[in-house]
Amino acid sequence: MKTRIFLPYLILLIIIASGCGSNPPHPYQPLNETILTPKPPATPRINGPSVYGVRPGSPFIYRIPCTGDRPIHFQAINLPAGLTLNGSTGIITGRLETSGKYMLQIEAKNTSGGDSREFTIVAGDTLALTPPMGWNSWYIHYDRISDSLMRQAADQMIETGMADFGYQYVNIDDCWMVKVNPGDPDGDSKTRSEDGKLLTNEKFPDMYALTEYIHGKGLKAGTYISPGPTTCAGYAGSYGHEHQDAETFAEWGFDFLKYDWCSYGRLADPVSTEDYIKPYRQMWQFLRSLDRDIVLNLCQYGMGDVWTWGGEVGNCWRTTGDLGLEENRELPGFYYIGLSNAQHWQYARPGSWNDPDYILIGWVGDANRMLTGASTLLTPDEQYSYMSMWSLMAAPLIFSGDMGRLDEFTLNVLCNHEVISVIQDPLGKQARILRQSEKDLVLVKEMVDGSYAVGIFNLEKVPSILNIHWEEMGIKGKWKLRDLWRQKDIGEYRDSFSASIMPHGVVMVSLKNN
Ligand code: GLA
Repeated sequence: MKTRIFLPYLILLIIIASGCGSNPPHPYQPLNETILTPKPPATPRINGPSVYGVRPGSPFIYRIPCTGDRPIHFQAINLPAGLTLNGSTGIITGRLETSGKYMLQIEAKNTSGGDSREFTIVAGDTLALTPPMGWNSWYIHYDRISDSLMRQAADQMIETGMADFGYQYVNIDDCWMVKVNPGDPDGDSKTRSEDGKLLTNEKFPDMYALTEYIHGKGLKAGTYISPGPTTCAGYAGSYGHEHQDAETFAEWGFDFLKYDWCSYGRLADPVSTEDYIKPYRQMWQFLRSLDRDIVLNLCQYGMGDVWTWGGEVGNCWRTTGDLGLEENRELPGFYYIGLSNAQHWQYARPGSWNDPDYILIGWVGDANRMLTGASTLLTPDEQYSYMSMWSLMAAPLIFSGDMGRLDEFTLNVLCNHEVISVIQDPLGKQARILRQSEKDLVLVKEMVDGSYAVGIFNLEKVPSILNIHWEEMGIKGKWKLRDLWRQKDIGEYRDSFSASIMPHGVVMVSLKNN
């Protein structure tokens, strides 16, 4: 028994001991501490995207994500007319009247030093030029969600420092409307006022006040509904009131809408692709007629090959069923969802993203029974793999665990600025699959500066040495490698790179040309 357990480790040691060659260190053997992300320095560091899309005429709100000891003083050089920066909060607000590319320089200073970075605002047609990042209520609060839990989540996004890394959406999922009487799903439950306007349930007394609260922190607010008569949890849907609801969401001040197919399937019997597109095209057109920017998230579980048309009628589209309902098989559920999402890499681009569902780590609820929550059963290595896959896939990065119980480990997974800069890279490419086998997965993402971000995933339950060859990547010569989780340069490599990787773990590196 003992020999069986130790044999793979022994083989690994022998391989490591005999490993030599021109590349330093070969194979790379990272230290496996539990917390990998280095603490941010006291000096300001501006994080988040370098490009941001807005439509001319729409309200603008952007909180500069920046770590470092507060107070920090912010300044913006070449801030276009119509926008104002609050120097102590770093929140930019206002409205841009004319289309165009505005290049500004953002500066952040405190008593320890400063940082500055170029930031481009593109006033045009396209929102979500980089994948949206934030939090969603579903997997922790289910039908218990309330106005006060939403406000707490916004407070916690600031207090935990998540907002300083670029998380900005605070999104309500299902269950904020009135529940439709069971047995009378299309009937006369009082879900709307006399003039047809959607009513909220008693847990949401004032939607406008709620979004004002979220906006007051420089964050954005998201909501949810179905194109069908009821949502997946049986609350009022938009069917027959789509235009009015789009206007109501704008009036209430929402910035993001998840539009969930759910009961629409009872009305439509889709045969053609156009049947699948129809409700989304309609909502997309209504949203675009508003003078408010609302990012549209399609949620229809990948039907009708949504990746081939989702970008025409929305900003991101779920490619699979619910991650939280996925059973663990040989591998934890996120691998199956991630592997399925990874296949559609050609379709992702700025403004249009494949969405493999939320980041379910930390303290999360069981979706099968809509329970309150428990600590994730994923190992630390599995959580690094999860976050690495989502980053390489340029996925919307929406955490859906308990914001009130974020521990140091979970925050270290969610808040590594080098990993996040892979998601937020302005080129907007999703990683292609370089290799996929029973043993390993290699994802390669092209970055705007000509570098590559590479994730080498060990799918086995034992440690393995895995490698990548320049030839299979289509590159040549010497490349500088950096371990992104540990934020450490690891040397110059020629022709290939190999690393010793923990069970179900990952090594995520960047390759920069000399
Ligand atoms: C569907 C969606 C989930 C969640 C629930 C809410 O299952 O896929 O993400 O929004 O509905 O009822």
